[in-house]
Amino acid sequence: MRELTWWQRGVIYQIYPRSFQDSNGDGIGDLRGIAERLEYVSALGADAVWISPIFPSPMADFGYDVADYCGIDPLFGSLSEFEQLVIHAHHLGLKVLLDFVPNHSSNRHPWFEESRSSRDNAKRDWYLWHDPAPDGGPPNNWLSRMGGSAWEWDEHTEQYYYHAFLREQPDLNWRNHEVRRAMDGVLRFWLDRGVDGFRVDVLWLLIKDAQFRDNPLNPCYRAGEPEHHRLLQTYTEDQPEVHEIVRAMRATLDIYGDRVLIGEIYLPVSQLIKYYGAAGDGADMPFNFQLINARWNAAVIAGMIRDYDGALPEHAWPNWVLGNHDNPRIASRVGAIQARVAAVLLLTLRGTPTIYYGDEIGMTDGTIGPDEIRDPAELRQPGAGQGRDPERTPMQWDDSLPNAGFTSGKPWLPVASRSSVREQEGDTSSMLSLYRRLLILRRCHAALVQGTIENVAAHGDVLTYERHYRERSLFVALNFGGEASAFESRPATVLLSTAMGRDGGPLTHGTNALAAGEALVASM
Ligand code: NOJ
Repeated sequence: MRELTWWQRGVIYQIYPRSFQDSNGDGIGDLRGIAERLEYVSALGADAVWISPIFPSPMADFGYDVADYCGIDPLFGSLSEFEQLVIHAHHLGLKVLLDFVPNHSSNRHPWFEESRSSRDNAKRDWYLWHDPAPDGGPPNNWLSRMGGSAWEWDEHTEQYYYHAFLREQPDLNWRNHEVRRAMDGVLRFWLDRGVDGFRVDVLWLLIKDAQFRDNPLNPCYRAGEPEHHRLLQTYTEDQPEVHEIVRAMRATLDIYGDRVLIGEIYLPVSQLIKYYGAAGDGADMPFNFQLINARWNAAVIAGMIRDYDGALPEHAWPNWVLGNHDNPRIASRVGAIQARVAAVLLLTLRGTPTIYYGDEIGMTDGTIGPDEIRDPAELRQPGAGQGRDPERTPMQWDDSLPNAGFTSGKPWLPVASRSSVREQEGDTSSMLSLYRRLLILRRCHAALVQGTIENVAAHGDVLTYERHYRERSLFVALNFGGEASAFESRPATVLLSTAMGRDGGPLTHGTNALAAGEALVASM
């Protein structure tokens, strides 16, 4: 087998910079704050940090509206502080991944300001401008993912521009080769500063239908779903030409050696795997978000693991994600006990895991009062279930009041609960201890990192699978139910269990029992 590279062996830790650690009391996390906490991330056992956008931005979508791709927003710090952060991280053995947001810029980016200045401006074609429909309305039926039409009327030049998200986030025209060159320059700018790779925002949306055809109605739309679900995204996502763009990004990263390209892509597996590139010349890891939307059920997840593993091309490396800044937290989705099962699952499946900051202490979604809502998605479509503030609340470092060690000022979002790193550190039964033990287990057992995954099976509420590498085999059993359940095993020794007092104990040949919500890893 080929030697694995760092991002195949490693574990990624996502930092939402606004919420990780504030160093200057303005209530918003920053680079110095992140730097102060890198030792924590390294001691946890992660190998890389992915930092959500830190570039200059009017913050209409909290940094996913970039006004300068080659700078750092003063809210977060400076370019030299970022460079220091990279050095510090590398010193600790941590890689640093940035969030590359190529689909759209801010409407305040100089490129867009030029583009909108006149119809014959040299950058007009850098964005998606279109004449109105014959009735004067938007050119077609495309809908914004943040609600309403995706077309915004520009009074000055009397055309519409397209925005898949907020009107403050105009989509760039990736059919334009100058845009491609400019964005390639952005990748090189950060690679030259030692960045180890990128998570690419909405990679599957980059190219839109050249003919701007109407999207078909979605026959499965149910009332209460977000508005854009009314339409199938036939002409606004996953267009075939996107793959040549991914290949070009990959080629640029390859010039710099072993850098990682991760794509944010919400697509069914059959479409997702195409982003690896037909010859392995695409993204290293199209994010696999299946666990985020999965029904929490042993049979469902067994099927998902088998199908994903079976669908991956030979050259493709798997990955699994439990949570991120756009989705309710795992501990709120499945509850505190099952969140432990989820941790064992995430860290024993085949492929690179991504941990969302705070999930390692079982952080739950915060309660956001009506006056505290900050997320534009919630402000634009109140009550549509799109609000992302609850999963973005400040990291809970200690028991200091009122802000859990996150800030000395007023935090931009309220702290969700009191459970903290400090409290959990000394407690061997805590979620933090479980994560640390699991991450040590991964380092000690090549089977968890390099091994095949086999015999994936569900019996009632129990999911079992095996990991094999050379002569070593590990066995994993997870109880997705609220009652004790039996499972079949070969003789094995428990290496780790979420139930107290079981480590080091035996599994006998034949029938064994798992406590309610217990998960274990055993050596066969
Ligand atoms: C995906 C990001 O994760 C999300 O937070 C953002 O709102 C959209 N892309 C638009 O950039």
